[in-house]
Amino acid sequence: MAKPKRRYVCTECGGISFRWQGQCPDCSEWNTLEEEAPETAFSARHNLGSGGRRIAFEALDAPIRPLARRTTGLAEFDRALGGGIVPGSAILMGGEPGIGKSTLLLQAAAAIARSGQDVVYVSGEEATAQVRLRAGRLGLADAPLRLASASSVRDILTTLADGAPPALLVIDSIQTMHSDMIEGAPGTVSQVRASAFELIRYAKECGTALVLVGHVTKDGSIAGPRVLEHMVDVVMSFEGERSHQFRILRALKNRFGAVDEIGVFAMEGAGLAEVPNPSMLFLSGREEPLAGSAVFPALEGTRPVLVEIQALIVRLQSGATPRRAVVGWDSGRLAMLLAVLESRCGLNFSSAEVYLNVAGGYRLSDPAADLAVAAALVSALADKPLPLRGIWFGEVSLAGEVRPVSHAGLRVKEAAKLGFDRACGPVQEGEGLGKLRYRGIAGLPGLVDQVMANA
Ligand code: TYD
Ligand code: MG
Repeated sequence: MAKPKRRYVCTECGGISFRWQGQCPDCSEWNTLEEEAPETAFSARHNLGSGGRRIAFEALDAPIRPLARRTTGLAEFDRALGGGIVPGSAILMGGEPGIGKSTLLLQAAAAIARSGQDVVYVSGEEATAQVRLRAGRLGLADAPLRLASASSVRDILTTLADGAPPALLVIDSIQTMHSDMIEGAPGTVSQVRASAFELIRYAKECGTALVLVGHVTKDGSIAGPRVLEHMVDVVMSFEGERSHQFRILRALKNRFGAVDEIGVFAMEGAGLAEVPNPSMLFLSGREEPLAGSAVFPALEGTRPVLVEIQALIVRLQSGATPRRAVVGWDSGRLAMLLAVLESRCGLNFSSAEVYLNVAGGYRLSDPAADLAVAAALVSALADKPLPLRGIWFGEVSLAGEVRPVSHAGLRVKEAAKLGFDRACGPVQEGEGLGKLRYRGIAGLPGLVDQVMANA
């Protein structure tokens, strides 16, 4: 029999190569290929066309059993999940180290255990004493959950096989787990994949909801094995700036619901507190109008969140290459917006450093933020403060036109509720736009006029 071929998997994109290379041929990242243990080799004559069980086919309109969801006891967590945890589902909880994943899951696990359900929390990263210490600090020490420190998947599954399966199994983190079915150190692609596979199979067979914690790399992908994202039902991402208080829980993929709702938490001395009404959260305490600051009504699912965008422009005397630094927004999008402002409005940013910051550690992904960013940039460049109680929204095209955005009325209504009295956005109709003084602008030249008029 031929020797099974060695395979190498890219930890960034999951691409497979048959020889080791310094650079992944699929995503061009460097030093990301790792050897994968060979698959079991079947004989070439093995015939899969017989010997199996017959599968049943169903009509699309066959009766559906409603999904039983279990609430986690944290309303913001449930909201991001689309209504709660589905039994037998596998959830991957991604986030940067130190962002609060263990804290969030300990709080949710304790709440579920307190409601009378069996919960198992396995930490591969921390000793039980450490977890108990945290539980004590969070006031959760009396929650009847079963806690263990372990990293062998076989040990965990052998233990769980004795007795009724738990309602919830938390594994913190999948990168510390080890399966003896396969060679390699914990954290390697094949180990993470094999461990996750065994745990997910257990969850599906026993109807246990499984939460796998996964650390993410700095660029935001769930560390190494993107393959995990395909294996689980739900991929959640816990985001925020570690130096800021606020955390956002977002579903990136959800087989059981929508992915547009977020959960908002504040990291406090006694753990994560829920923030049920986040609309004012990301506005810094603004008292006086400041040049370079614009408020953008972002939309997260059905909830508007007002965020402050701050721009700073520093003129350079020398011919040094000016810096562009962005926190909380896409740097490629900023480069595009600067180019459009230069070519369509004749503004000159080329000899100036440009800094852009989204207040409160919020990460903007809504394309409707373009106009607010442009307003902040023009305001900073001209040193003209924008009206304190104004909001800006609209998508900007390469031609410099301001395009209509979704749910303009909802954004305006929320801003009006919070005391804003004017809005600048695309020329569009919408229910609710009349709630405050609305000015529709067709393109960026109109925006520049608007900023200069300070109205
Ligand atoms: P942790 O849940 O351990 O993060 P992760 O599991 O994502 O790596 O939380 C880490 C940080 O949270 C820690 O640096 C301190 C902070 N924290 C608080 O501010 N208050 C608290 O009550 C707790 C438990 C943690
Ligand atoms: Mg942790």
